[in-house]
Amino acid sequence: MTVPPGPKGSLIMGVMREFNRDTLGFVTRLRDYGDVVHSRFLYIHAYFLYNPRDIESLLTTNAKSYHKARSLRSPFFYRLVGNGLVTSEGDFWRRQRRLAQPAFHRQRISSYGDVMVQYAERAIANWNDGEHRDIARDMTRLTLEIVVKTLFNSDISSDADHVGNTLSLLVKPFASQATLKWILDNRLPTPGHRRYFNAVSEIDRIVFRMIAERRASGYDEGDLLSMLLQAQDDDGTQMTDAQLRDEVMTLFLAGHETTALALSWSWYLLATHPEAEKKFHTELDEVLGRRLPAVADLPKLKYCEMIAKETLRLYPPAYAVGREAIEETEIGGFRVPKGTQLFAFQWVTHRDARYFEEPAAFKPERWTAERAEQLPKYAYFPFGGGPRQCIGNYFAMMEIVLLLATIGQRFRFSLDPAHTVEVLPVLSLRPKDGIKVVSHRLH
Ligand code: HEM
Repeated sequence: MTVPPGPKGSLIMGVMREFNRDTLGFVTRLRDYGDVVHSRFLYIHAYFLYNPRDIESLLTTNAKSYHKARSLRSPFFYRLVGNGLVTSEGDFWRRQRRLAQPAFHRQRISSYGDVMVQYAERAIANWNDGEHRDIARDMTRLTLEIVVKTLFNSDISSDADHVGNTLSLLVKPFASQATLKWILDNRLPTPGHRRYFNAVSEIDRIVFRMIAERRASGYDEGDLLSMLLQAQDDDGTQMTDAQLRDEVMTLFLAGHETTALALSWSWYLLATHPEAEKKFHTELDEVLGRRLPAVADLPKLKYCEMIAKETLRLYPPAYAVGREAIEETEIGGFRVPKGTQLFAFQWVTHRDARYFEEPAAFKPERWTAERAEQLPKYAYFPFGGGPRQCIGNYFAMMEIVLLLATIGQRFRFSLDPAHTVEVLPVLSLRPKDGIKVVSHRLH
């Protein structure tokens, strides 16, 4: 079992420079070396996995040999989400996941459907025909309002921009995630860092205030915070304020940007694929007429769901998952030394011609049940998989479909010809300068 093949890179930096210059292109080109590819970032050894069988081993069958990748352990990220579900490990994570799981049961989540539709309707009430909009910004604001309502039963619409701006400040440092600075965990008090830590403190104050108010009132608001506050382990213990804060921040962050991106890329793809767009509107007319959608319509909004799935294939908001080997193990016939960082890229595997016909084409039709069943497991994994699979996947799919339906009933969008849409792979897969569109009112 030799070391997997891969590029040598430069003596000191390894492949850091190539990776930083064109992350998505670089990790795509590396596939030519084989299913398991070795590369080095300074002193850190990484394996990139391109075969669904090995991705399954990483996330599911041999998950016990791994923790989350070290890039998640940056002090920046830790200050934001602490020991929340995304970052915690071992018995602590298992307990937290057990406590949080009931809050994400289908039935409970379904009760948020009306909020989603109502908020989407409210957001578009002032939109006009022929307006220039940044639909990515619109979707971020809308999903932010929805996550705050479903988490805290609180309406921040008047305050959305403020909290939104504070949050966008928070995620900026992650733009340089593979740089030297990131890997060496630089803690120097630069002005950017100071701004970041001040912004987190501001969000902290808001969150702790909300927790204290809820504990004092003891009232079940029917939101996620109430569920987490009431959750009890077998021995009767509950979460401390600090744990609650970490989980709430995690859900706040994980729960809106990804969904906003899925929606933004959906509008982009619909605007550039008139045939799919037409089918989309035909389905809305047939299923809903002029009526607003509700959770009960979800099983009938089949084409909307296929659009969502196809968007998550081509523009997966989480475009990579990473792990670190906590013991020596084996993958795809290669030895994995303890400490190796392993990555699987949704961006690459979802566009692999071995699994998807015409992989670059936007074809929602490929998601009919029979065709989807023929895919190898883990050729498509927008929500990850195994024990650490996204806890919010049903929440996200419901939100994407309901928002597409609510907004799509009233508007279609064309791309602003003066603007070029570009992908920017930071912590998530974002449009570099937004997605500028012109709105067209339908009725
Ligand atoms: C389209 C939207 C979304 C995408 C693409 C997405 C993607 C993912 C992925 C890939 C993971 C696994 C990461 C890993 O294995 O390293 C994950 C985990 C997670 N997601 Fe999502 N997510 C989305 C929406 C949401 C929503 C709406 C919520 C909450 C309301 C959420 C909460 C979480 C949490 C808490 C975890 C960590 C679970 C654990 O480790 O136990 N996500 N997500």
